[in-house]
Amino acid sequence: MCGIVGIAGTAPTSERLIEGLRRLEYRGYDSAGIAVIQDGSVQRCRAEGKIRNLDNALRDNPIDGVTGIAHTRWATHGRPTTDNAHPHTSGNVAIVHNGIIENFKDLRDDLSAKGHVFVTETDSEVIAHLIDHHIQAGLSHDKAFAKTLSELRGAYGVAAIFADKPDTVMAARQGSPLAVGLAEDETFIGSDSMALAPFTRQIVYLEEGDWCIATPGDVRIFDASGKPANREVVISTAAAELVDKAGCRHFMEKEIHEQPESVGRTLSQYISAVDESFAFQPGELGLSKADRLISVACGTAFYAGATAKYWFERYAGLAVEADIASEYRYRQPVMPQHGAAIFISQSGETADTLAALRHCKQNGVRTIGVVNVPESSIAREADLHLRTLAGPEIGVASTKAYTAQLSALACIALAAASSRGKMTKEETAEKVRALLEVPRLINEVMLVEPQIEELARALTHHTDVLYLGRGQFFPLAMEGALKLKEIAYIHAEGYAAGELKHGPIALIEDGTPVIVIAPWDELFEKTISNVQEVAARGADVTLFTDPRGAKEAGDSVRTIIIPECDPIAQAIVAAIPIQLLAYHTAVLMGTDVDQPRNLAKSVTVE
Ligand code: G6P
Repeated sequence: MCGIVGIAGTAPTSERLIEGLRRLEYRGYDSAGIAVIQDGSVQRCRAEGKIRNLDNALRDNPIDGVTGIAHTRWATHGRPTTDNAHPHTSGNVAIVHNGIIENFKDLRDDLSAKGHVFVTETDSEVIAHLIDHHIQAGLSHDKAFAKTLSELRGAYGVAAIFADKPDTVMAARQGSPLAVGLAEDETFIGSDSMALAPFTRQIVYLEEGDWCIATPGDVRIFDASGKPANREVVISTAAAELVDKAGCRHFMEKEIHEQPESVGRTLSQYISAVDESFAFQPGELGLSKADRLISVACGTAFYAGATAKYWFERYAGLAVEADIASEYRYRQPVMPQHGAAIFISQSGETADTLAALRHCKQNGVRTIGVVNVPESSIAREADLHLRTLAGPEIGVASTKAYTAQLSALACIALAAASSRGKMTKEETAEKVRALLEVPRLINEVMLVEPQIEELARALTHHTDVLYLGRGQFFPLAMEGALKLKEIAYIHAEGYAAGELKHGPIALIEDGTPVIVIAPWDELFEKTISNVQEVAARGADVTLFTDPRGAKEAGDSVRTIIIPECDPIAQAIVAAIPIQLLAYHTAVLMGTDVDQPRNLAKSVTVE
């Protein structure tokens, strides 16, 4: 979602601002812009669409200065046009904003009545006018900035520059992440440490309500009450080099093929291979006596939690409620008395997941974050942070982060099973061995790629696809449908195979593609009965199954054969062909695979 970069520097900033923006591109955006202080005035350049359009516009009309701000915008209020692109200005002030100002209409009406003229459809423009208004009324720049913040309701990461204070960038955070980068004679602002990695590794994360005044080589931070605040300087691990595609056509392709390593790295963190056990400290998870576990996440991460529910219940005898964060935070959820809550997130910044975590913490529930970005808000705020080691995921549609989440959750569920006395040492060792096989099995399952490409070609002729699964493969069916919608823009539904007769079977016509994920297990025969039901009505079924399932299913159905393995390993391995199917369909459809329309990687607004 929207990305912010700011530099209070001593050398020209335009190119560096663009470089910072490029590193935030992965978050998803639909317009971009920069503003610098040049010869005592604010100069702006903005463009609809990709950063390369902004780059071209800058080449035609160059601007530069040692102080500047930049932004990638993911439209919420107002279309993604050049006029609505940030930075927004009023008088001597220019601002960039990530988040949503909920009371913008009241503020805008009030300022309009006082003579301010608004020229965009955005909520953000009001911030520039408000700061300008307070300066005009006689407040110092610092006081005008702080007063403006106190009048905003909603979420913001914001950065501002001033034509008449040309060495300063002010920034603030409330609900949307913001980091400050420190260097000897320059100071940087960024939505995350990735944006700042080419400039500095010394990072200070602003806390909720914090605001700051950045000048070259110095930053003063204040908390929400205006008191000076000391915030720890951390050394960022984000790599200075831009993550590249390593010869692949898309980041998503690269990330799918990286999964043997990313899953292996994640598993090895939680498994002690020598004594074939799980490597958690005694009592670390706090689940041995828990009566209930809540799992909260959004999007693909939610499906990882929904899969893990089957494992916690089956292996650890622990009741799990798997919830979507945007629903969880606004109903009146009953808090577990002796339980815990687990929050799953690649970015660690998803606004709804973060809000749900804070809600649980406030109610005294122990919180566990399964998070990929170690410096993120969820990772920092959870009582226990269990890392997934997927590495930077750039493709908007999550792939390697998902299987890393499944890997970590499998270890957590099985470790809980063992600490709850539900699994013997031998049974635990058997599961450890099964999980350690997963990286090799992922390599093996990649061999079906040519068959998947063929199937993808067939899908491109359809507007609706049905995915079916039972048990732990039901969430994977939903994830498969989500992937196809996200990147190939083909409508798809993921359904529990047993629920088919209660509605979706009405959609089946001659040739409707139905993808069934059913490696052989105790539910296999039931799923095959459902396959017969749709096939009898003309569906074009493809069954993803293992050799035993293929044998049982016979010749009547097209099969794509995936390796046979332990059920908990299979939930991870089977995800790969499902990702490949969406990927190849999207490539054939000619969509923007890594940055699909309307989507954002890091959803920092609710
Ligand atoms: C967005 C992304 C999805 C992701 C979801 C949750 O919708 O496009 O790929 O699954 O957010 O993100 P998180 O960072 O919390 O895992």
